[in-house]
Amino acid sequence: MTSKVSVDLSGAAQTMLTTLYLKALDADFRRPVLADRFAKAAIDRIDYDWADLGITQRWAPLITVRTAQYDIWAAQFLAAHPNSTVIHLGCGLDARVFRLDPGPDVAWFDVDFPEVIALREQIYPTRAGYQLVASSATDPTWLDQIPADRPVLLLAEGISMYLTEHDGVALLQRIVDRFPSGELQIDFYNWFGIRTQKSQTLIRRSGSTLYWAVNDPSEVLNAVRGIRLLAATTLFGASTFAKASRTFRAIKPLLRLAPPVRNTLQYHRYAFGPAAR
Ligand SMILES: C[S@@+](CC[C@H](N)C(=O)[O-])C[C@H]1O[C@@H](n2cnc3c(N)ncnc32)[C@H](O)[C@@H]1O
Repeated sequence: MTSKVSVDLSGAAQTMLTTLYLKALDADFRRPVLADRFAKAAIDRIDYDWADLGITQRWAPLITVRTAQYDIWAAQFLAAHPNSTVIHLGCGLDARVFRLDPGPDVAWFDVDFPEVIALREQIYPTRAGYQLVASSATDPTWLDQIPADRPVLLLAEGISMYLTEHDGVALLQRIVDRFPSGELQIDFYNWFGIRTQKSQTLIRRSGSTLYWAVNDPSEVLNAVRGIRLLAATTLFGASTFAKASRTFRAIKPLLRLAPPVRNTLQYHRYAFGPAAR
């Protein structure tokens, strides 16, 4: 029997254990949102007291609705750009590269802190066209490893809020300036999410701090030169929200009169470079 892998993470790096766990719980639902069998296998490989995260299965859609929405957008990008580069920033232990299984002409880079990448290496197999980059996203030098000759998809799920606005905008601008064309698929917390961070179990227990609030795509369009909006939605507006449990969906009408709460979790998609004809 293979021995389990131990983890010792803190701060922002630890938060990916919660997102992984919720995906694994979702995989056991009769009607899963994401059905991520890789997440389920991954948590079985890790020596961790998952109950200690203090989160239960009814909250799984908080994460799986988002991940499933970005899977759809990423699959659309890959269908339109079979010869491209994917940068999956703040990948944590997300198994997107295995779920989407991109074709042979896609170069896929999973990027996260060195301690997260070290854990990833022990959990998931390698595959052709797939590389791990162990670096903070805000260190400008990691991008030098990524060939800049093809359209790029920067997919940054669940990471923007851990960056300062200054670092986040600089990072997006570096991507836009380096590649000939591509997409930025990135989610944000609005001001309400940042202000109420101490009440969020995932954040409080990890000891991490959230910084960057984005309330609306116009803020990103004004801050990053050369991008255009393709789509923007929220947890409650995402097409994948319809797959959440009835109990979870029941929250939506209750938030009708509370727009800052309803719009806390923002999912954005931008393009840059020449528009496809
Ligand atoms: C909430 S988890 C999301 C993980 C994964 N994207 C998912 O959706 O399951 C946040 C991830 O962002 C990573 N992260 C946060 N700040 C980072 C930084 N400055 N550089 C690289 N990774 C970072 C953390 O290590 C963690 O893996």
